[in-house]
Amino acid sequence: MPSIILIHDDGTRETLDVAVGTTIMHAVVAAGKDGIVGECGGSAMCATCHVYIDRDQEQAKSLPDVSAVEDAMLDSATAERRETSRLSCQLRVTEAFEGLEVRLPERQL
Ligand code: FES
Repeated sequence: MPSIILIHDDGTRETLDVAVGTTIMHAVVAAGKDGIVGECGGSAMCATCHVYIDRDQEQAKSLPDVSAVEDAMLDSATAERRETSRLSCQLRVTEAFEGLEVRLPERQL
């Protein structure tokens, strides 16, 4: 089961084991962690699952490209949109995600 690293806005880091096939959004919400709301349940319609993922990470090379729907929704995220912005509900975990660092924005709402 791959582990991802959650990095909160205050710099706090925590490790989360995620079953392959689960989205990052569902894993964080199910674990009761702060930082992701997931209001729409993963339909790419709310942007409350916004995260930052540095594309220079080796693990990030396996991420799917940003779809047109995700791209449009990221524009409505509460926190600043950056080049590294993603919707975590669109990121389904594979074994290649092992060690992926996922930065959480200061707020989602
Ligand atoms: S959970 Fe709503 S856009 Fe990801």
